[in-house]
Amino acid sequence: MQQKELILILDFGGQYTQLIARRVRECHVYSEVVPWNMPLADILARKPIGIILSGGPSSVHDDNAPRIDPALYEAGIPVLGICYGMQLTALLLGGAVEKAKEREYGRVTVRMKEQAGLFGGMQAASNCWMSHTWQVSACPPGFRVIAETDNCPVAAMVNEDKKICCVQFHPEVTHTEEGTMLIRNFLFRFCGCSGDWTMSAYAETAIKQIRETVGEDGTVLLALSGGVDSSVVAALIYKAIGKRLTCVFVDHGLLRKGESDQVCHVFSHLFPVRFIRSDASERFFTDLKGVTEPEEKRHIIGRDFIEVFKKEAAALGKLDYFAQGTIYPDVIESGQGTNAAVIKSHHNVGGLPKELGFTELIEPLRMLFKDEVRALGETLGLPKELVWRQPFPGPGLAIRIIGEVTPEKAEIVRESDAIFREEIAAAGLDRHVNQYFTVLTGIQSVGVMGDERTYDYTIALRAVTTDDFMTADWARLPYDLIARVSARIVNEVPHASRVVLDVTTKPPASIEWE
Ligand code: XMP
Repeated sequence: MQQKELILILDFGGQYTQLIARRVRECHVYSEVVPWNMPLADILARKPIGIILSGGPSSVHDDNAPRIDPALYEAGIPVLGICYGMQLTALLLGGAVEKAKEREYGRVTVRMKEQAGLFGGMQAASNCWMSHTWQVSACPPGFRVIAETDNCPVAAMVNEDKKICCVQFHPEVTHTEEGTMLIRNFLFRFCGCSGDWTMSAYAETAIKQIRETVGEDGTVLLALSGGVDSSVVAALIYKAIGKRLTCVFVDHGLLRKGESDQVCHVFSHLFPVRFIRSDASERFFTDLKGVTEPEEKRHIIGRDFIEVFKKEAAALGKLDYFAQGTIYPDVIESGQGTNAAVIKSHHNVGGLPKELGFTELIEPLRMLFKDEVRALGETLGLPKELVWRQPFPGPGLAIRIIGEVTPEKAEIVRESDAIFREEIAAAGLDRHVNQYFTVLTGIQSVGVMGDERTYDYTIALRAVTTDDFMTADWARLPYDLIARVSARIVNEVPHASRVVLDVTTKPPASIEWE
């Protein structure tokens, strides 16, 4: 997607490359990560206003070390080299790179020799994140040293005439206290960015591009799951081509309370696309009968979903394009967007477009991070509850029911989950706890209700705080909140007679129980 002001980030395989893109975008400047070996002509054709060279695991002296065409430095485009990007710049422009006496790793105090230019507004000494074995030992001609540490005499260097800046530390990592300021300085002082990239500007460009791609009378098919990504795609494409977008919503009967109706309401009233709701819950419950093994449940739901979707799509006749909610982390993780289309896995719809005969994909969120997708959704006018929805697994409540899935059990977990969500929201914690839900454990136990003996289910509360969902801590919810939730669940949900709290971190436990 062509943006007015573009920063290209050449990726040398560093673990923080995505973060560079995020930091730049947080400064309202559009950025994209591209592979380090993108041909120079292609780089120039994108007309970047600045280029950032990322870190990477190689040593510049390795035989197979990634190299770039040194003509890049003569193109009149400001360059910021970070870690490996700095060392490569030094080597290619006539400086020297040597093994450091001591490997630097972690927070290191960097002394800045000036408080102007790249370091404008920063302190004379600042904690920065370092991770390197090699370092620049001599600047190339035309460069001067602007920062040092106890072990690293050239912690940063600059050539003002050519607008090339390099830092050995990682400004993109939050442990680097003034990292964002440094990136801002590069963007605004060296590249002359105006910082006018906003979600409404992105939406405008995306809508225009969808119109151009689809043409005057082209049609688009989208599998709408009700999750954030596919909903934002639907809203965006609706704004571009209206009812020429057909959304197929396969309702497997395993969504959370109210979600299915909300999806129907939004896409028949707020964004009135051509909307097909396929109520297939009976089929899913029939096929899940007697199945207790979690992977088998997932497999059955994935297979049924594809079958139902295919049947609905066949009934629609030929549509021109298939749209999906692939987002930027999927693209980067799969190898820089050079690979064939990456499929966002909502129950394994991987091969679906091909199977249905689609050769062209529309993926308007391909360049956005999750929080940007949410911001875009708000900009487009989607309801807040939908836009800020917590992650929800494709197979839905089926994996939150331990043992056999039945409509009755789905009702128990759905109702208890709704109570938990209501109380978390009422306590004002919904934006602080990253994921929270109830689980219908397989345990039944004896209780007493009124004068009657009961033998009913145990509900577990799971609530976690996490940045990335790869690791998580259990949320320290207030006791009185837990007490309210527990009391309401046993009082209001038939066949729930006991509530327990999951106090396990991930790892070793996963977030979902399955
Ligand atoms: P676990 O249970 O592995 O979950 O700790 C990590 C995160 O992934 C979500 N999850 C899924 N998301 N499709 C999805 O889109 C799925 O099949 C799926 N399974 C788990 C889970 O809710 C948690 O946020």
